[in-house]
Amino acid sequence: MQDFPLFPPSASSIAREVDLLYLFITSVSAFFVVLVAALVVIFAVKYRRRHPDEVGADIHGSLAAELVWTFVPLVLALVMFFWGADVYFRISRPPVDALEMYVVGKQWMWKVQHPDGTREINQMHVPAGRNIRLTLGSEDVIHDYAIPAFRVRTDVVPGKLTTLWFNATKPGTYHLFCAEYCGTMHSQMIGEVIVMEPHEYEAWLAGGTAGPAVPPEQAGEQLFAENACITCHTGQPNAIGPDLAGIYGSERRLADGRVVIADDNYLRESIMVPLAKVVEGYQPVMPPFQGLISEEQLMQLIAYVKSLTPSQAPAQ
Ligand code: CUA
Repeated sequence: MQDFPLFPPSASSIAREVDLLYLFITSVSAFFVVLVAALVVIFAVKYRRRHPDEVGADIHGSLAAELVWTFVPLVLALVMFFWGADVYFRISRPPVDALEMYVVGKQWMWKVQHPDGTREINQMHVPAGRNIRLTLGSEDVIHDYAIPAFRVRTDVVPGKLTTLWFNATKPGTYHLFCAEYCGTMHSQMIGEVIVMEPHEYEAWLAGGTAGPAVPPEQAGEQLFAENACITCHTGQPNAIGPDLAGIYGSERRLADGRVVIADDNYLRESIMVPLAKVVEGYQPVMPPFQGLISEEQLMQLIAYVKSLTPSQAPAQ
């Protein structure tokens, strides 16, 4: 497909839809700007005062004109709203079959980790034609992970995790930007996204890094043991901490009666500031890990917890 002139290349499954919506809104706006400006000039000339004693005609309104200039803009605005909402929802809901990758932003670089544990900095290699879901966190200030060719971006905010997904359609090299001013070297916090054919991506993973890469959930399992999480989260019925198997995405009833979903940010908070949400039936005894583990280690712990399904839990 041909790219629109002046636009970045369209290299993801959503890019064309974003462009069409953008062109529609721009065209409608341009049409009315030209219409209004032209009428101002035409009417100023056509209805100008020709004699000093000329008096304007008394007009008492027109129901037809009122209805037209109310309903035409209403319909146009609602088209923009529903079309925009549809594209927005599809951009913000990652498909379940997506390949999981982890991104950490810090002043002033992007650290990327692949599902097999391979790491890279200011570069992100991805296979074409696969749904890819990024989980992003920041070690310091607000950054913004932006890939114009894919028409996606998300703020990367300290103290929470955000997600972004895309499906890259065309092999090639594309710009990666930090799109939120984050300090002196903000403009250097750039990189490239390299889209490869799936078999090339596999070859790149196999031949790339120095030494064997440890997958995030495996690194998380080690951290789980090293930080002695396992002493309380044993998975046994009378354990001090809740059983974590199958917890991801489930509903959690809290001691104060609230019910919350155990998503990425719930797991993050429960590790960093455990007393913020204590699960019903448990004592508020877990120490906070805020400041003790890095954003990357946090993501590895979450990857480990996500990988625990009830059948893999320690024997009950
Ligand atoms: Cu990071 Cu701007």
